[in-house]
Formats: sequence, C-alpha cells, structure tokens
Amino acid sequence: MSLFRTKNIATMVADTRRAALDKTLGPLDLTFLGIGAIIGTGIFVLTGTGAMLAGPALTLSFVVAAIACALAALSYAEFASSIPVAGSIYTYSYAVIGELVAWLMGWVLVLEYGLAVSAVSVGWSGYFQSFLSGFGVTLPTVLTAAPGALPGVTTWFNLPAFVVVLLVATLLAVGVRQTARINNIMVTIKISVVLLVLAVGIFHVKPANWHPYMPMGWHGVFQAAAIMFFAYIGFDAVSSAAEEVKNPKRDLPIGIIASLLVCTLLYIGVTAVLTGITPWHQFAGIAHPVSLSFQQIGATWIAGFIDLGAVLGMLTVLLVMGYGQTRLLFAMSRDGLLPPALSRVHPRFRTPFNATWIMGGVFGLIGALVPLDVLAELVNFGTLTAFAMVSLSVIIMRRTHPDLPRGFRCPGAPVVPGLAIAACLFLLSQLQTVTWLAFAVWVAIGLVVYFAYSRRHSHLAKGS
Ligand code: ALA
Repeated sequence: MSLFRTKNIATMVADTRRAALDKTLGPLDLTFLGIGAIIGTGIFVLTGTGAMLAGPALTLSFVVAAIACALAALSYAEFASSIPVAGSIYTYSYAVIGELVAWLMGWVLVLEYGLAVSAVSVGWSGYFQSFLSGFGVTLPTVLTAAPGALPGVTTWFNLPAFVVVLLVATLLAVGVRQTARINNIMVTIKISVVLLVLAVGIFHVKPANWHPYMPMGWHGVFQAAAIMFFAYIGFDAVSSAAEEVKNPKRDLPIGIIASLLVCTLLYIGVTAVLTGITPWHQFAGIAHPVSLSFQQIGATWIAGFIDLGAVLGMLTVLLVMGYGQTRLLFAMSRDGLLPPALSRVHPRFRTPFNATWIMGGVFGLIGALVPLDVLAELVNFGTLTAFAMVSLSVIIMRRTHPDLPRGFRCPGAPVVPGLAIAACLFLLSQLQTVTWLAFAVWVAIGLVVYFAYSRRHSHLAKGS
C-alpha cells in the first residue's frame, strides 16, 4: 500500500501560503508567461520537418495538435485552480493517485523539461547561425550540428547549442528570475516577428504552392501533428507560477486557455503563409525555415529581423524549461525521492546550484550531440504521457476529493478528460517505434531508482 501513499492537499496548500512568495501575477501576466514559454523552436524550426510530412496541410496538423492540447488544458486548469502548488503532474498525482505514480510522472517530467532545453537549444543554434551569416560570419561546419544531423555532411558537435545552455544555466544559477518585465519584452518581440511574417508574407503567397494540399494524405497530417505538438508545449508552465498568482482560482485557467488560444491562431496563420510562399519540399533539412522563406523573396532585412527575434525569443523558452527542470529536481529531492544534494540551496545566490549545473551540463551535451527531430519526438512522448495522466487524474480526483473547492471545473467530465486521453494516445501512436523503446528504457530506469532508493528515503514514508 505504501506505493499509493498520498500527500494531503490542504497541508500542501497551507505550506505554500506560509512560504509567502509575492502574489503579484494577474491573468494578463499569466497569458504572457504562457506565450513566452510556448512560441519557440516548434514554429520557428520544426515547421520545416512538419511540412515534409504533411505538405501544405501542415496547417491542419497544427489544428489537430491544438485540439489535443485544448482538451488536456481544461484538466490542467481544474488542477491548477484546486491545487495551486508548483510541480504540475508530479504534485497532482502525489495528492490524488499515490507516490509511485507521482515518482514516475516526476521522472518523466525531468526528461521532458531537460530534453526540451536540449531541443530548443538546437533550434536556437540554427537561427543564431543564420543571424551570423547575415554578417558574413560562418562557423566551421563540424561545429554547427550534431553528428548525423545533416545528411551527407560531416558534423561533430553543435557548439552554439551547447554554449547557450551553459549561458542559461549560469543565469539560473545566479538567480536571474524570469521576471514578468523581461518576459513581457520577449513576448512582445516574438509576437511582433510573427505578425510581421503574416503582414508581409501574405502578399507573397502563391496559392499554386498549396496544390496538392495533402500530398501525403491524412497519414502525413497526423504524423506531422505528433511532431508539431512540440510547438504547444509550455502552456502547462503557467500552472507552475501558481504560488505567485493573486487570484489563482480564476486567473490560472484564464492564463492557460488564453495563451493556448492565441498561439493556435498565430500558428495557423504562419504555416498557411510559409507554405504559400515556399513550395513545401524546399524545407527539407532547413534549420531556419521561417527566415528562409523571406530570404527567398528577397526580403533580407525582414529575414534578419526574424533571425534576431527568434534568437531572443527562444531564450525565454530555454529559461522557462530550465527553470521548470531545476525546480522539479529540487521538489523531488526535498520530498526525499532524490538525493539531498539536489535540493541544497547556494548560500549566496539562494538557488538550487547543483540541480542547475547538472541540468546545464547533461542537457547541454545532449543538445550538442543529438539531432533535433529525435529530441522533439522524445519530448513529445513525455509530454503526451503527462497530459494523459493529468486528464486521468481529474477523473480520479472527482471521486477521491468530490468536495475539494475548485475555481474551475473541467466541463463535461469524465467525457472531456476521456477524449483528452484518447487524443494523446492517438498522437503517441504516430511516433516512431524507437521513441517508444527509448521511453520504455527511461521508465524502467525510473522504476529501478524508485525501488532501490526513493521508496526508502521518501519523507512521506518517514513521517507515516
Ligand atoms: N513550445 C516550445 C517551443 O516550440 C517548447 O520551443
């Protein structure tokens, strides 16, 4: 039964109240926080990969992925409004299902956030190199990408990707908080870039490029949807700000749903324009598809602005994901499930120093050595699993905690969370077998660590 020991929700919420972080964030801040975490490598880079799978119907792939996210977002919103405590599905399942599942979800999220840092660093590197080339600067080819990332080209190490992760780790280690003000500036830059793409690009669309619309049929659309799902990851980060929100019960659901909605509309517009400007098969192996389209129509200054906006904008995604990962390691270590060194706080900087540098070193190297498509599939696998679990947990929580006050209730439960689970499983089925295998290995290692270490060291076990 110890595998199903749960934490008490009232105690968790009371503990965070005592921790007394400033409660300053409102619904607009949260929406910006969400957009800051969402718009990044997905739309700026993976669009190229997606176009090769779906053709111009990539727009439909974005709609399919958005539906899965929207269904899961409703469950996220219910949790965030009833258990406004950081830690996402790790915390939720610790309260509702029990320690073993919570551990596994935490273990999966560590991989998701960590590999998301690696994946976004690769995307960042592509735009950074495109930006440099605007000034005639090029790096030695072997240092531009992971081994095997570019067909027919010898590459060893993605140096810019590695360096940017170390930069992010340094910022997080000295305690640069992702302040609302900096985030708002970054989000404004990103949205301006996207609006510029739409406003200028629309005049260069050649409708002939949209025919045939679905060259690879629905199969291609769904496969691309499973990849483009990556572009939406991040709205769940809104829930991690739970402890700093003025009115969490009302504002968290607004922030989660509004940021998702805004990004969906922008993505649909951008993909329609890009596939209208550039014939889709020209995106093969391109690391900066958005600026490429504008280079092709001779709008070089716009391409340069896009490169700069993407480089700055992706930094916010890196900071949010890196922050999420270190704080998750911190929380799991504080609960006794991981060694105490990971929750040791630096005396001067007041940050989880060890956790931050482990994140930086390990996932920086992974970003430098593994191609983006492989990383994105793994991140999506972890996230889809987490989304399915959040939806399942809502169904369970309605039974185990029927009277818990909820600021927001997922409408149509259990049908809507059930549909969310089905949508996530469907997208999972579109991912490659090797991704399934890699994920199974990660979960197996997690089980070994739990039974060899975490189960005995759990603070909940010691307290009970
Ligand atoms: N959604 C984030 C991105 O596309 C992870 O970079």
